[in-house]
Amino acid sequence: MRKTEYLDSSVMGIQRAAEVLQAGGIVAFPTETVYGLGIDARLDRAAEELFQAKGRPPDNPLIVHLARIEDWPMVAAEMPLSAAQLLHRFAPGPLTVVVPKAPAISARVTAGLDTVGLRIPAHPVARELLLQAGVPVAAPSANRSGRPSATTWKSVREDLDGRIDAVLCADTIQVGVESTVVDCTGQIPIVLRSGGVTMDALRQACQGEVGVADQSPELARRSPGVRHPHYQPRAEVVLVDCLATTAIPGDATQPIAYCGLTPLPEQAARNVVLYRHFASVEDYARGFYEFLREADRAGARIVLVEPAPASGVGWALLDRQRRAAAPRDSMRQQKTAKQ
Ligand code: TXA
Ligand code: MG
Repeated sequence: MRKTEYLDSSVMGIQRAAEVLQAGGIVAFPTETVYGLGIDARLDRAAEELFQAKGRPPDNPLIVHLARIEDWPMVAAEMPLSAAQLLHRFAPGPLTVVVPKAPAISARVTAGLDTVGLRIPAHPVARELLLQAGVPVAAPSANRSGRPSATTWKSVREDLDGRIDAVLCADTIQVGVESTVVDCTGQIPIVLRSGGVTMDALRQACQGEVGVADQSPELARRSPGVRHPHYQPRAEVVLVDCLATTAIPGDATQPIAYCGLTPLPEQAARNVVLYRHFASVEDYARGFYEFLREADRAGARIVLVEPAPASGVGWALLDRQRRAAAPRDSMRQQKTAKQ
């Protein structure tokens, strides 16, 4: 059990958080996508403690964060042209490029892969922390493994209080879904995970030369994280494509939560304990993870989710919604079947 310090995002708070990182500690900090859970990416021991604090499977590699593009040799052994072009276009921002790994980065961080995910976050508090710390910072999302990512410091506390050293608090998340992960080690860039940089923007930047990994064994090999269950609250998540015709599981007295871009039709309304109708797909992306957590806090047994339109940031949001609604054991079963 650790005593978790809650720091404000003043100069002194950021300075303290940087010291904790430099001393090998674990610090949660805000980024423009979701909260990250940072350590010095060169330290095996800190990486082991981080995987333990999160309950993360050791075969799922971490993204390494830097304040400035020009510091890339701290993280990468080389910078492929496609990665340099993408960083030039989208950094700082919600983009991660997968590139050959530098020897200084702990093999625990990259789960034994010879590549590393590199990201330059745009959030001013994250940038200042990275500058002050002066070390490459490996950071997965700041949630217990399998749970919805945290977009507020209270959600970080809910999952990780007593398991990490500090939380740098600033609830000014902009995007609400994680970075787009692009593998830049092959002939053409391949999207491994959808995210805050949209497919249209990527296509434009790469003049159409960009692939998307499907759910094939090849993706599982390139991006081990996709195999594991993700983003799931305690309540069951059900996607409701057409509310009028979808049969809502459970009996009518069960407490339900609903979120979407359109209001819940009256015929579907039952024992609704939490209701959110977002004004735009951007708001929906920003608020989705916290809504799932609020649904648990409100005692909902079922969360009805209207699927996001598959364009713009909705592309990434829809992916997260599908994973949140995936049968609880199916991904684990697939994994066992492959072993
Ligand atoms: O927006 C984000 O990306 C947030 C913030 C904190 O930066 N971080 C985040 O980390 O979402 P995490 O650990 O929850 O997700 C990292 C994803 C996983 O799907 C992992 O498999 C993939 O990135 N990844 C990391 N390194 C990789 C590598 N070398 N090759 C392939 N995939 C990698
Ligand atoms: Mg995550």
